[in-house]
Amino acid sequence: MKNHSTKYSTRLRILVSCITLLFVACVCIVVSAQGDSTTPATQQTTTAEKTVEQVQKNIKVLTGLPESQLLPVMNFMRGSLGVRCTYCHVNKDGKWDFVSDEKPEKSSAREMIKMVLSVNKTTFKGNPTVSCYTCHRGRTSPVGVPPLPLPEVTPQPSPDQAKPKEELPTADQILAKYHEALGGSAMIEKLKTRSMKGTWLTSNGISLGYEVYQSGPDKLYTVLNTPKQGVFESGFDGTAGWEKSARGIRALEGEELFYLRRYPDLFKDIKLKEQFTRIAVGGKDKIGDREVYVLRGVTTDNKRERLYFDVQSGLLLRRISNMPTMIGQIPEQVDFEDYRDVDGMKVPFTIRISSIDPFYSSMRKFTEIKLNVPIDETKFHKPAAPASPSP
Ligand code: HEC
Ligand code: HEC
Repeated sequence: MKNHSTKYSTRLRILVSCITLLFVACVCIVVSAQGDSTTPATQQTTTAEKTVEQVQKNIKVLTGLPESQLLPVMNFMRGSLGVRCTYCHVNKDGKWDFVSDEKPEKSSAREMIKMVLSVNKTTFKGNPTVSCYTCHRGRTSPVGVPPLPLPEVTPQPSPDQAKPKEELPTADQILAKYHEALGGSAMIEKLKTRSMKGTWLTSNGISLGYEVYQSGPDKLYTVLNTPKQGVFESGFDGTAGWEKSARGIRALEGEELFYLRRYPDLFKDIKLKEQFTRIAVGGKDKIGDREVYVLRGVTTDNKRERLYFDVQSGLLLRRISNMPTMIGQIPEQVDFEDYRDVDGMKVPFTIRISSIDPFYSSMRKFTEIKLNVPIDETKFHKPAAPASPSP
């Protein structure tokens, strides 16, 4: 399966844009059907987000799932089974028919979703503990019998025999050291804007020109230069997200807005403490040859996260975030590398994002980063559309 990945990813990127277009189209058609179906307790959604059954045509078991989570959940099922979307969905001559129930695998998947929902409800107090991956581990047929001969089980050292407990710093000390390592709280408080230029390397090795402009906690403007589909500009002005490409200007909704909104915040990976309702030290670990302290926490939007700080430098090296959904925790990992000094602050010049969604898995390598350079406010707003037929 892996050897197809190059072609597959290119297809999927196109596919992703097709689906998101489809979403936007649906949003326009379903004229604000304000159903007040209650979302499950595990879902913390933004106010009044639509659920999948309000937006899609043939939802029988994922009812109540926030619209923005449909594609992450589909990608999660795809990844858990090690298949492509075509395993469950019909694609005739390059045309997708996600609504169709023609494939028996889609029906099996529905039965499986029901089973997962039920086992989590009855056995795991409603937490998404069991997921497709729990059994499938990247294959369609889970292995239910241990292979023989069984490996020798080496006795585990009892906890008190294990190596002596090391004094660990507290979460507050680790976070304070991180701010110190970045350049100190005075520098952080002074931070107003950041502009970055470099490349976006896709998971299948295509290199795209990439620019990011951020201002304060909620304004973003990005430019992605693709060889085949031209320039994609996108922005978020604190309330609305948009995209401008060769196909025109459109508002970003649902899943796309959800992805876009994760990055505007200039302080997202800097002012960490206020993002958590609980955070505590989870021990020591290693990333490559670096020793790291691990902090474990739950964010204000109910994601379980792990943060890894370099023991020596104090800098943040990795952030893993698990988003709870009905059918399991959907992980995303961000690695921060190549910290360099920019006007007295340390900034990572390489950011590696690993996601279950091949489109968002990427390595962003910057060649130029500037701090506190004024950015024209109009950049963040949706550009005025040339006369367009849509309402
Ligand atoms: C393991 C099977 C499986 C895989 C793989 C899968 N899906 Fe699905 N998909 C389903 C099932 C089942 C439903 C219907 C869910 C329900 O009834 O609540 C669905 C529904 C959908 C819908 C909504 C269709 C509608 O109008 O009701 C879309 C869109 C979709 N999938 C896209 C995708 C994409 C894109 C991929 C690949 C990234 C994908 N799916 C991979 C099983 C799968
Ligand atoms: C408790 C373990 C378990 C969980 C959890 C689980 N599955 Fe399965 N799944 C199985 C087993 C066992 C089979 C049967 C495989 C066989 O017949 O060889 C199966 C079969 C399937 C099949 C049919 C495969 C085929 O060859 O026709 C699909 C599709 C599937 N699972 C999707 C899912 C999805 C999607 C999820 C998550 C929503 C999921 N499963 C969660 C155990 C599980």
